[in-house]
This record gives sequence, C-alpha cells and structure tokens, in this order.
Amino acid sequence: MAANRASRPRRDPNTNSNYEKIVTSKIAVNYDIDFGKKRLEGNVVLSMKALVDGVKDIVLDTSFLDIKSVIVEDAKSEWTLKDRKEPYGSPLVITLAEGISKGKEVQIDVALATTNECTALQWLDPAQTPNKKHPYMFSQCQAIHARSVLPCQDTPDVKAPVTYTLRSPHFTLASGHLTTHDEAANKYTYEQPIPIPSYLIAFASGDIKSLPIGPRSQVYSGPDEVKGCQWEFEDDTENYIKIAESIVFEYAWKTYNVLVLPNSFPYGGMENPVVTFATPTVVSKDRANIDVIAHELSHSWSGNLVSNASWEHFWLNEGWTTYLERRIQARLHGEPHRDFSAIIGWKALEDSIKGYGEDHEYTKLVLNLDSKDPDDAFSSIPYEKGYVFIDYLEKLVSREKWDKFIPHYFGTWKLKSLDSFEFKATLLDFFASDSEATNLLNSVAWDDWFYKPGFPPKPNYDDTLVKGCYALAEKWHARSSQSFTPNSSDIDGWTANQSVVFLEKIQSYPAPPIPKEDVVLLGDTYGYAKSSNVELVSRYFAVGLMAKEESVYKPTGELLGTVGRMKFVRPLFRLLEKCDRKYAIEVFEKNKNFYHPICRAMVEKDLFGDKKA
Ligand code: BES
Ligand code: ZN
Repeated sequence: MAANRASRPRRDPNTNSNYEKIVTSKIAVNYDIDFGKKRLEGNVVLSMKALVDGVKDIVLDTSFLDIKSVIVEDAKSEWTLKDRKEPYGSPLVITLAEGISKGKEVQIDVALATTNECTALQWLDPAQTPNKKHPYMFSQCQAIHARSVLPCQDTPDVKAPVTYTLRSPHFTLASGHLTTHDEAANKYTYEQPIPIPSYLIAFASGDIKSLPIGPRSQVYSGPDEVKGCQWEFEDDTENYIKIAESIVFEYAWKTYNVLVLPNSFPYGGMENPVVTFATPTVVSKDRANIDVIAHELSHSWSGNLVSNASWEHFWLNEGWTTYLERRIQARLHGEPHRDFSAIIGWKALEDSIKGYGEDHEYTKLVLNLDSKDPDDAFSSIPYEKGYVFIDYLEKLVSREKWDKFIPHYFGTWKLKSLDSFEFKATLLDFFASDSEATNLLNSVAWDDWFYKPGFPPKPNYDDTLVKGCYALAEKWHARSSQSFTPNSSDIDGWTANQSVVFLEKIQSYPAPPIPKEDVVLLGDTYGYAKSSNVELVSRYFAVGLMAKEESVYKPTGELLGTVGRMKFVRPLFRLLEKCDRKYAIEVFEKNKNFYHPICRAMVEKDLFGDKKA
C-alpha cells in the first residue's frame, strides 16, 4: 500500500521510476493519432503526489519517446533523458526547483511524440486490415510497453484514473467510457475513473463498427466481420458476467465490451478495462474459443481490480484468472469441463517446464526478474502452476470455505496491488478463527510452492472428457503396427477442444509422432487441414512438421502470413525451422512487418538468438 511504500525495499525491479517516493494520482493522455507519420503526438499530464518529504527528482519510465518539453506547475523545469538501458528504456529525470513535501501534489506536463521504435503500437496500412480501406492502429502495453507510449511510472504497483483525449479521422476506442465525440474535430474523449495500472492503458483506431452482444456489452470489429463476431459472443457474454459476479462480486467497470482486432494482434486476448482486445482467431465460427472471453472478463477482478505488485508475482493475475475462468466454465457446462480444461492446462505447463528445463528460474511461481525482461519470462507457468496452487488450496480448506474467501480476497485488495506474501497473509488471516482450516493451511509447503522450480504435485483430475481423445491418439500412433482404419465418425460428438486434446496427445509422442505418410490422411479424415479454427489447423500442421511431411510446409508458411498471435506463430516457426530453416527465415522476412513489434522481437530471438536478423 502506498503509505508503507517508502519504508519497504523495492518491490518492482522492472521500473526505473522512483515510485517509492512519489506516486501518480491522475493521468491525462492527449494525443493526435497521426496515421501518415505513424506516430502519436501531443502531451501527457501526470498528477503526482509525494509520499515522503523533500522529493526533488522525479524519475519516469520512457522507451523510445521523443520528449519535446516538460513543464512542472506552469514553469519550465530541468529534465534529462538518461541513456537507454535494455530492457527498461531511458529514465526521464525531472529535477524540481524546490523539493516538495509529503502529501503535496505536482502536475507534470510532458509534450512528446512516439517514434518508429515504439514497441507497444502497431500501425497497419490499409492493405493489412480486413477490408483494406483504412489504416488501423492499436496498443498493447502489458507488460512493460506503456513506457513506449507515454512517460509514466510503468509498474503495476501504481494505479491512477486516466482520461484520454484522442484525435483521429477514424473511430477510436480506449480502455474507458466514451464521454464526448466531436465529429467535426475528429475528437474522442474517454474516461476511466477507476484507478488502473499503466499496463491497462489502451486504445485502438480504425474502421470499426459495433453490435450488441448482451445488455451491457458490445462487440467492435471491422464492418464486414461484426455480424460474425456478434454471433460468436452473444450467447455467452452476459452469462459469463453474471456467473463471475456470483463467484466474486458485482462487476465494477459498468460495461464489458470486446474489440476484435486485425490478424496481427499478438495475444489471444488482453484484458483492457471496459474493452477486452481479442485476436480474430477467437471468432472461429463454432463458438469453440470463447473461453478466451471468460478469461479476459475474469481479469476484471483478478488483475484489473486486484493487481500483481510486480511481474514477479504475475501468477496472482493469471493463476487467479485461470481459476475464475474454469469456475465459470464449470457452472455453465458442468464440473467435468473444469477438469477437462485443467488437463489441457497441465499439458501446457509440461510443455513450458520442459521448454525452459526443470531447474529454470522461470518455472517458479514467484520469479526473480531483476534485470530481466518480463516478456522473456512469459509462459503457461504462471497460469497453470498458479491454477494448480489455487485449486489445491480450494480443495484443502473445502470448496464451501474457499468460496467465502474469494470475495473477501478481492474485496480486501480491490484498487490495490499485492505480492505473494500479502496473498498468503490475507489467506491465513481470513481463516485465523477457524482452527481446522488454519491447521490445514499450516501444512502448506509455502516456500516450495513459491520458490521450487519445476513441476508442482500433479492433481487428480476427472478424465471423462479426455479418455476417448487419448485412445484415438494411441490408435494413430500405433497404426504402423496395428490395423486401424480411420473414419470421420471417430470424432462424432466431440467438441473442437477434444480434437485439440487429441492432437496434443499425438504431439507428445517422440517425433515422428505418427507415420509421415499418415499426416495427410489425418488432416483430411477429420477436416483439420481446412478448419476455420486455427487451434485445430495449427496443431495439425505441428503434427505434420514433427513428422517432416513436406506437403504441410507451404500451408504452414501461408498460415504464418495470416495470423500474428504468438501462441501459434512461435511454435510453428520453431518447428518449421527444424524442417527447413531457409524457408522459415524466408517466411519471417516476408511477414515481419505484418507482426506486432512484440511478436516480431520474440520470433527474432527464437530464430536468431539475441542478435538481430
Ligand atoms: N494478460 C494476458 C495477455 C498478456 C500477458 C499480454 C502477458 C502481455 C503480457 C491475457 O489475459 C491472456 O492471458 N491471454 C491469453 C488467453 C488465454 C489464456 C485464454 C492468450 O493471449 O492466449
Ligand atoms: Zn490472462
């Protein structure tokens, strides 16, 4: 909490700001969105309040910003932009004429423009948008990219309300509520009155239309896609909100909307308040991937109201969110669906842990990110090890008692940020008067859960929904030695996610997971090769690449030119590279401007190591 901060050691190693001494209490973002120059230009006003006496230097995070002037309380103040240090950017040091005393506020008005090196923004030419008529731009600030859009205290440990004034010739959205739209001036103002961390600052602008998907929800997308998007989400969005409200408490952000972005959006979804940003791959025309919406909605409590204090405690955001998402699914579709999803999650956890190696720092729940880039530590581990931990705690104290803790936890920490130790203290404190629960909680190996790398104890999940998927995978795997004639009816009655489990099981066999000559048969028999669900096609291609079946190389290359979601792009590049490095590099070079800067940088690291292509 802000009041205790000055006496504490530094909680967030991923910011250059001196937020122990002074904190942001309000942010006003005022930008022209200049599509011609592909940059934002304007000013940002930060109201800042001193936590201690005599604050003279204010250090803000910036990354590749073109700072033009800094005015403090209407007087020109001294400022310097320090040398850039990877991966945290260039500290902007503002030196006040006189130190300010504890509790006093100052206003800092910075005039600036973004630059071509900005890592948070993607600018799309008309040709890169669905209807190819207008340019498009969007932001992605999590984890530490907000500093490339505005000077700020770029740490989730500081929260402030935000107002946006954005000028653009195209429809513009931001992570707040629209307050005015002046058509003649092309000006939109948005307000987010609930204090939010910098990583939730977000906006997008382009040829965007909307349709309702619930009583308090709209979907936004390109004009030609919006009807399809409406169909995908309209049955479930309000149910998700109501169920989440009954598990935690009332939804705080008034409206819940979804913006479906162009193909290059690098994530499945991003929980920007009021408006979730989502990849178009969730719109698979079968409603099979809307768990992403349940997930992003759940962040409205875990992450957006109650935030991790630093990226070292990211599991508090993602583990809790994965937990809430699965509780929502269980309520809607039955308890076996919770475990079904958890089994898929365990596989993702296995892949991540094996990928890093079982002793790796990033396989811990609580990380040491000192001098590290949080993007490099991003994996399924905070999601799935976090889920396994919360699921374990729930079962330990009993579902009934845990369900009372959930609203208490979110109520205690809403509008604040916390670390894993505060989570533990809140839990122990809540059950202090319940000796049975306290005894159980005292048996928890807290330090192992927080700091032991590698696998947590494996839970016993209900495997009703996966058994058939595993059995079919085994048949394909053993086809060369045992007779088995595949038929499309093998998967009758399956959900798309059961096919995902089937394909992942196949992928888990040593390469080649199925005989090379069976790959095409697999894709044709079950329709995976031509599916509009990228979850299916991409996994089918992965199986083909593992079997080194040449006929999937080109379609993989083509898919890599139409989706920019890192979950698909990174594994496919890794596999394609193993088959044909020259072709993989050719595909990357051809599409690198299509990918969002974050995705581009990650694939570059995957293909070429830390040195640039
Ligand atoms: N907050 C994350 C996305 C993120 C994480 C962006 C870290 C930048 C840095 C979002 O909530 C998320 O987890 N998205 C998942 C969706 C899924 C787990 C349903 C994704 O993108 O795949
Ligand atoms: Zn998430």
